[in-house]
Amino acid sequence: MWFQRMTLEVWFDKYQYEVDYDIGESAVKYMTFDQLGVDLAGLPLRYGYHEGRPDLRELLAHDYPGFTGENVIVTSGGSEANFAIMSALCKPGDHVIVEHPNYASMYEVPRSLGCNVELFHLEYDNAFKPDIDKLQSMITPETKIVSLTHPNNPTGSMVTEGELRRIIEIIENNNTYLLFDETYREMCFDFMLPPASILSPRVISLSSMSKCYGIPGIRLGWAATQDKQLLAQLLAIREQISITNNVMSEAIALKVLADKEKFLANARRQIKTNRDYVDQWMAARDDFEWIFPEAGVVGFPRLKKTTGVDPEDLIVSIVENYRTFTIPGRCFESDNHHFRLGFGANLDEIKIGLDNVDKALAGLKQTNSPRETKLPAG
Ligand SMILES: Cc1ncc(COP(=O)(O)O)c(C=O)c1O
Repeated sequence: MWFQRMTLEVWFDKYQYEVDYDIGESAVKYMTFDQLGVDLAGLPLRYGYHEGRPDLRELLAHDYPGFTGENVIVTSGGSEANFAIMSALCKPGDHVIVEHPNYASMYEVPRSLGCNVELFHLEYDNAFKPDIDKLQSMITPETKIVSLTHPNNPTGSMVTEGELRRIIEIIENNNTYLLFDETYREMCFDFMLPPASILSPRVISLSSMSKCYGIPGIRLGWAATQDKQLLAQLLAIREQISITNNVMSEAIALKVLADKEKFLANARRQIKTNRDYVDQWMAARDDFEWIFPEAGVVGFPRLKKTTGVDPEDLIVSIVENYRTFTIPGRCFESDNHHFRLGFGANLDEIKIGLDNVDKALAGLKQTNSPRETKLPAG
């Protein structure tokens, strides 16, 4: 077992606090503590409950028809849930299928655990839609778990409920597990998927307060499943990592979730407006193209190769010369002509950010264009 840093997080480390405009982040624009109106006075700063505060678990369970708080374990971000799930279900050498592109941790954790990780690619030419027949053909008797993320980061790709049910049928027929990352489930505009874990005991739902609620800094996520034995394993693993949750984070999450419908309705309106703006921007260009992200707050556009511009030069110029944050495709083990574009910020920030992309590209095109030979005078 060996862990290495994620290229994506190294990129964040280098630039995220150095920029003025962020059009690369994968979440609704972060809230500040005072905006939340949380009163933490009197909160006992003792160790929390190992599986998470009971009232928080109950509240989270409301979104999973048929579940109680006992089907939910609260973790330090969806990341810890992913780590615990993979550690509970997989041992070195196990076959694991992970959707790609994706948040890198989804495949880096099983790789670090020594699993035989196979990537299930979402293709641009297929509008980043999962090819379910292909997925089915990848599953072997050794496949321990299939890990999918929809709405997807970074592509914004969705599946329909029918597709999700078909995937679950395949999972059940093959006696494997589905880890369904539904961190963006509530940031949808046309239809919302049911939480996948209510559909089968072979499914584990993973979610988080980070993306749809704009509070990644509290580091609070959860896993939900019908499988009580697995929940017991997750508890044993999380005890070894963090013992319990941060009690302040749990209090904040409770407060935010108490008013979630209002918060989500406002956020969805804003995100939809932002996405439409970006879509119009893309449609007007002959140097960029994207697959319209059906849900979530990110898309994965690409610079057309016909521009002749080196994509790394472009992304570095955007961030270093124009103080605007996006994320190069290589951070997702993808063709570097792609970059992640997040539209979770306020519209003004997005407009300036896209103007800066335009300026950076114009600058590089000028540098690349053949110069007139200056003849010596006389
Ligand atoms: C799809 C997806 N799932 C899970 C996570 C983990 O996030 P967190 O640990 O903040 O919940 C991320 C983070 O970027 C993500 O993009």
